[in-house]
Amino acid sequence: MRSIKDGVYSIEQAKRGLKGYKKSCLKCHHPKQFAGPAYMDSWSGARIYDLFEVLRRTMPTENPGSLKRDQYAAIIAFLLKINSFPPGEKTMSSEPADLKQIRIEGPFKWTKPTNKADNEG
Ligand code: HEC
Repeated sequence: MRSIKDGVYSIEQAKRGLKGYKKSCLKCHHPKQFAGPAYMDSWSGARIYDLFEVLRRTMPTENPGSLKRDQYAAIIAFLLKINSFPPGEKTMSSEPADLKQIRIEGPFKWTKPTNKADNEG
């Protein structure tokens, strides 16, 4: 089992996730809603797979499952980034078997998505 602390997404993927988030999620959710302990502690101990499935099955509310698996994975990469988890070399896969191998664990801490360091790899 790996952890979200192990660099499980790539910086490029988080950037794509930010774009996807702006397009499909921002109108209803400020990203701060999903960063920091207030929300993320509820996921502590779960797998990335579980979060992925909630997003894929319920979001965006007007058309759940309308994004490609790859796009949900990128949005999760973005959410890890704004929770201050480090990127790694590899893109996070969107395959269930892989997502089941990644454990969500804190501490969760908000990092602003727009500062320059975040946008450069
Ligand atoms: C049309 C409005 C709307 C859009 C677009 C939307 N959501 Fe939501 N979302 C909601 C509502 C309403 C809830 C339930 C109340 C809440 O937590 O805000 C929710 C809940 C959530 C939750 C909490 C789920 C849980 O059970 O913990 C997450 C995470 C989430 N949305 C992520 C996303 C993501 C990522 C996107 C873009 C792919 C998105 N939402 C798009 C309205 C929306």
